[in-house]
Amino acid sequence: MVGTGAIARGSHLPALRAPAAEQPLEIVAAVDVGAASAEAFCADAGTGRPYTDLGLMLAEQRPGLVTLGTPPRFHRDQTITALRAGAWVWCEKPPCSSLEDFDAIEAAEGPEHGGPYAAIVFQHRFGSGSDHVRALLAEQAMGRPLVARCQTTWYRDEAYYSVPWRGRWSTEGGGPAMGHGIHQMDLMLDLLGPWPEIRAMAGRLVHDVETEHVSTALVRFENGTMATIVNSVLSPAEVSRIRIDCERATVGLTHLHGHRNADWRITPAPGVSPELASAWQDFGADVPSSHEAQPRGLLADLRAGRRPRSSGADGRTSLELVAALYKAAFTGNTVRAGGIGPGDPYYSALHGDAPGWAPEPAEAGA
Ligand SMILES: NC(=O)c1ccc[n+]([C@@H]2O[C@H](COP(=O)([O-])OP(=O)(O)OC[C@H]3O[C@@H](n4cnc5c(N)ncnc54)[C@H](O)[C@@H]3O)[C@@H](O)[C@H]2O)c1
Repeated sequence: MVGTGAIARGSHLPALRAPAAEQPLEIVAAVDVGAASAEAFCADAGTGRPYTDLGLMLAEQRPGLVTLGTPPRFHRDQTITALRAGAWVWCEKPPCSSLEDFDAIEAAEGPEHGGPYAAIVFQHRFGSGSDHVRALLAEQAMGRPLVARCQTTWYRDEAYYSVPWRGRWSTEGGGPAMGHGIHQMDLMLDLLGPWPEIRAMAGRLVHDVETEHVSTALVRFENGTMATIVNSVLSPAEVSRIRIDCERATVGLTHLHGHRNADWRITPAPGVSPELASAWQDFGADVPSSHEAQPRGLLADLRAGRRPRSSGADGRTSLELVAALYKAAFTGNTVRAGGIGPGDPYYSALHGDAPGWAPEPAEAGA
């Protein structure tokens, strides 16, 4: 486990402890630039050897899986280092700073059969609620999806932005589209599939930051669904929402940082039989979305040498949507999926060197 801060302690450790009770799985090491933090982590976890050097740990321990809970600016290099040492990776969101970095990670993965592969932590895709709704949508049980809304309206105050690395492209990676809304957008993409085009706006409204505070976007999906997106850190009544209107029902999800079956509502259209409507409500055993829901599949894939969900093209989709959202917002143009590649300034940096949004040259160098 690399980076022994809040997410490693509060989420990664319990997420690996649960499967460790059922299968051969041992936490062999913890790595942090802070020696005291790595030591305290191993002492508290009651397992693992503390390290301050990732390369040394990889050479000595040769782990099968590396989890990354470090700040975003280290994700690219640490993922590639672990992959080259033969370890699979489970890396926190946001995956890395640009599509170029993501493609470098993908290039460092193993062959299509066997791995090692790098999966991104997108825990809201996992759990019984999203599994059930994804299956209903895939078989068009509620008819075709037509209209969607994806909302991450959270609140972050002056104190939050007084931490120097926040609100900066080089250290936080982006604003709420990248750091906060990416979870909800990832879930929407997982449910609705490919999107050909996006239009967007972004605003810097309150604190003195480089990145945005709010973004809004319009997305057309390949299946015809027309979606709106709002990502905000200026919304005191915090909520995360997804709503999808299909021909015969509206699916709604309302939560904050994680969902369970009770957070989903399926409202049938007039004329739908009570039997059918009640069949849609059967979400099965409640498996909340969480860090615990994702690693079970990841570990099974690791043992089978299969590409895991949320890796490769499947892990890249939400980063591509974020890059396209920024490009659409900062240029005022419609952006098409697959259109941001080598040579495009938005391929190598999410701010795309846009005047008024990209860091000042001196700061970019720093
Ligand atoms: N999936 C989620 O819902 C979720 C929630 C919160 C945070 N996160 C993500 O988790 C990551 C970490 O966030 P956090 O809140 O735990 O941060 P944190 O600051 O609490 O922990 C980061 C740890 O990494 C260590 N570190 C820094 N640089 C390092 C390096 N080069 N090598 C090794 N260790 C290093 C720090 O000393 C610290 O202990 C971020 O990418 C964040 O976006 C995800």
